[in-house]
Amino acid sequence: MTLASLQEELDDLSSRGLYRSCRKVEALEGGRIRVDGKWLIHLASNNYLGLAQHPRVIRAAKEALDRFGMGAGSARLIGGTFPEHEALEEELARFKQTEAAVLFPTGYMANLGVLTGLLKAGDLVIGDRLNHASLIDAARLSSATFRVYPHGDAQRLEKTLRLHRRGHRRALIVTEGVFSMDGDLAPLTELVSIARRYEAWLLVDDAHATGVFGQNGRGTLEHFRIPSGGILQMGTLSKGLGSLGGFLAGPREVIETLKNKARPFIYTTAPPPSCAAAALEALRIVKEEPQLRSKLWAHVKRWTRALKEIGLHLISEESPIVPIRVGANGDTMGLARALFEGGVYAPGIRPPTVPAGTARIRTSLTALHTEADLEEALAVFQGVTSGDV
Ligand SMILES: Cc1ncc(COP(=O)(O)O)c(C=O)c1O
Repeated sequence: MTLASLQEELDDLSSRGLYRSCRKVEALEGGRIRVDGKWLIHLASNNYLGLAQHPRVIRAAKEALDRFGMGAGSARLIGGTFPEHEALEEELARFKQTEAAVLFPTGYMANLGVLTGLLKAGDLVIGDRLNHASLIDAARLSSATFRVYPHGDAQRLEKTLRLHRRGHRRALIVTEGVFSMDGDLAPLTELVSIARRYEAWLLVDDAHATGVFGQNGRGTLEHFRIPSGGILQMGTLSKGLGSLGGFLAGPREVIETLKNKARPFIYTTAPPPSCAAAALEALRIVKEEPQLRSKLWAHVKRWTRALKEIGLHLISEESPIVPIRVGANGDTMGLARALFEGGVYAPGIRPPTVPAGTARIRTSLTALHTEADLEEALAVFQGVTSGDV
């Protein structure tokens, strides 16, 4: 065992400004977070609608805890399917306007499950270059031929299919609906038409869009007014819905196949019923309180305009994820530290999460923020940047 070699690798990460460590959250209040004894404006959460703290969500989880206790105790197929799991799957299918849906313990596992459950050697998976790590890991684990197209480039995707579609059994195009570190949207209308033309499936990872995009919060398909038939919609319960878990919504045959073949569904304990109950209540709130979504989008408009006015370079301004381009790892982490000192919690994002040379400060907005929070945060940004970031 060469622990020394591990230490060498850790030292190397440090010397390149890539060492990572967790910060402990001590308390949360509205749009603020307490870390290291200090209250800061929280610009690092994907709890877009604030539902993780919504009283109805908390009550639903508590009621399920009282009825069933904490852990599910078994895998779904063995004895771990509770009424909350089934009710949530039915509601997710209705919400996403698909025939059926299946739950996984996390969004990461949902992606692993979908790709490995549907594909094998001899199949083809083609993904956007900036896809989330879980989609890349899933593609690798599936044993299918894995190709990548430049970010958002539908023409290159089509070229890859033209060259490689024949000779492969199934083909799956994989994209995020809203990209988690760039905040921009996939060209879904084009991707849908390419998928049809080449008899490929399209998987849209709507981790950051569920509850947030579209008139009813259904996600990016609703945003682009694309009918959901035949499209595979992955989502997570852990961001806009404020709970924990992942899911796939799609045609019945796909869902039944995953229940029978996806190892991250079969060989793991079912998600706690309280998490499913919380997400189910969150879906009701998404429907009943559209004002949360309106407030969030008003924040996005105000925040992006204000950051540009102080001279910051935004990577995108299409979603509640608003990343500010910096470039070098050291500069990015220095800026994140200065923001922290000033009272703003906004993480620096470095490779390998994003491509080398594109390190950034990722800000994310939620309906828990007030206008005053954002004004205060803006003043901090103005104070710590000279306008040339
Ligand atoms: C695009 C994307 N897909 C999948 C996931 C995984 O979801 P979860 O956090 O529920 O595992 C995340 C975030 O973590 C994500 O950003």
